[in-house]
Amino acid sequence: MKSPRASVALLGAVVLTATTGLQAQGPVSQAIPTFTKDVAPILQRACQRCHRPNSMAPMSLVTYDDVRPWARSVKQRVVQREMPPWHIDRTVGIQRFKDDPSLSDDEIHTIAAWVDAGAPRGNPADMPPAIAWETADRFSFEPDVIVQLEEDITLADVGSDQWLNAPLEDTGLTEDRYIQMAEIKPLKGVAVVHHANAIAIRGTRDGEIGPGAGSPHIVEYAVGKAGERYPEGSGKLLAAGSRLVMNMHLHPIGEETLVNTALALKLYPKGYTPEHIQFSRVFPFPSQSEQDDIDIPPGESNARTDSYHYVEQPMRITAYQPHLHNRGKRQCLEAIYPPAPSVPWPESQGGPFSVRPELINCADFQFNWHLQYTYEDDVQPLIPAGTLLHLTSWHDNSAANRGNPDPTAWVGFGQRSIDEMALMWLEFSYLTDEEYAAAVRQRQERHGGNEDPQ
Ligand code: HEC
Repeated sequence: MKSPRASVALLGAVVLTATTGLQAQGPVSQAIPTFTKDVAPILQRACQRCHRPNSMAPMSLVTYDDVRPWARSVKQRVVQREMPPWHIDRTVGIQRFKDDPSLSDDEIHTIAAWVDAGAPRGNPADMPPAIAWETADRFSFEPDVIVQLEEDITLADVGSDQWLNAPLEDTGLTEDRYIQMAEIKPLKGVAVVHHANAIAIRGTRDGEIGPGAGSPHIVEYAVGKAGERYPEGSGKLLAAGSRLVMNMHLHPIGEETLVNTALALKLYPKGYTPEHIQFSRVFPFPSQSEQDDIDIPPGESNARTDSYHYVEQPMRITAYQPHLHNRGKRQCLEAIYPPAPSVPWPESQGGPFSVRPELINCADFQFNWHLQYTYEDDVQPLIPAGTLLHLTSWHDNSAANRGNPDPTAWVGFGQRSIDEMALMWLEFSYLTDEEYAAAVRQRQERHGGNEDPQ
């Protein structure tokens, strides 16, 4: 290890996985895999959250009869790593996430071998018990509070996308409370809800609403995203007297659609103040319109945008989520650490210093999927004060990008899907200098001190 601060973010985090040659290689096991014994457990873990009756995906992958007609297509999508959607670059950065549905090379091999063998059912006695999935009105945790839009919204069959703020029912809470878990679900019109953000507005409901600095963001819903659970001892503040609004992006689908969305919260007990307040924020912060430098020429397949965010107080990052639009291609987040304090720099030689960059993650981006990557507790990036978070985003405005609405257009920043963004959401809490030092020490001890896994 090069300095006490080196690799703080990634200590023990890097599990490099080669992803080459999936079709061609892999240990061929002797026994032919069967659906009930080998394939069903994989589908339960990695697919059924979306592929089950009355959910978002086009077909159910629960029973053998559901899956059998799709066998070839299942093989193709998993071998290409198109399903399940998971766009983290597996060759760099942190690789341990909560609720990671992605498949190991062995699991992909099992599915491919099963399809190649004619997709046999196997012994019914081997079938694992069915999973009891939550439904539209059932959340992934037992909520204390559920509020929905005061009124359904009617979205016309055709027309441009709509961005709107709609009031949620009163929570009935009269004192400051801290949120431990939060989840948004579309109750009606799941197919048109592109994304939804619950925002707490202080003061009267007539006041200005929107994701400004004084209005804490609670949680975002987007296709493919589950609810959020904050680490034990941390929570988001829901201040007394807050009004909740749902900020939504709706996308017409050719038929008039009624929309309603609900926010569910699990709260810490009355009077409890968590040690850390959890934030979820978009960067660049606070103003999204600071992205005037997005400059994507017509036909350009790899237009790059950089932004830098100065970290004034140590942070523990718990989740990362790229946010781009139709032409979004890829994003990388890097931490540029300040010079290590242990390096003796006599006053008289006050610089220049060398700083040390460390890649946290890269992810490919597809506008259909807004995936949040939640770190396992012991690999959450610990960011010292004085760090620059460097975000690099790439956009593909060429005709080869199937999601590109118009390769002949110049594209800059804007709210519409046909404009662009180069943002990220981070979930994080702040640490004091002492807490930061203690967290680093604890992690170094856990990982046996000195070796640098990079
Ligand atoms: C996060 C939700 C989600 C997960 C998890 C997921 N899928 Fe999908 N899947 C979708 C959606 C939505 C579509 C339709 C859009 C598309 O094709 O991308 C789809 C499409 C497919 C298709 C193509 C269907 C067609 O019409 O041709 C296959 C095959 C498939 N998924 C298999 C799987 C398998 C196998 C898994 C698990 C290993 C999986 N999916 C996990 C949401 C998901």
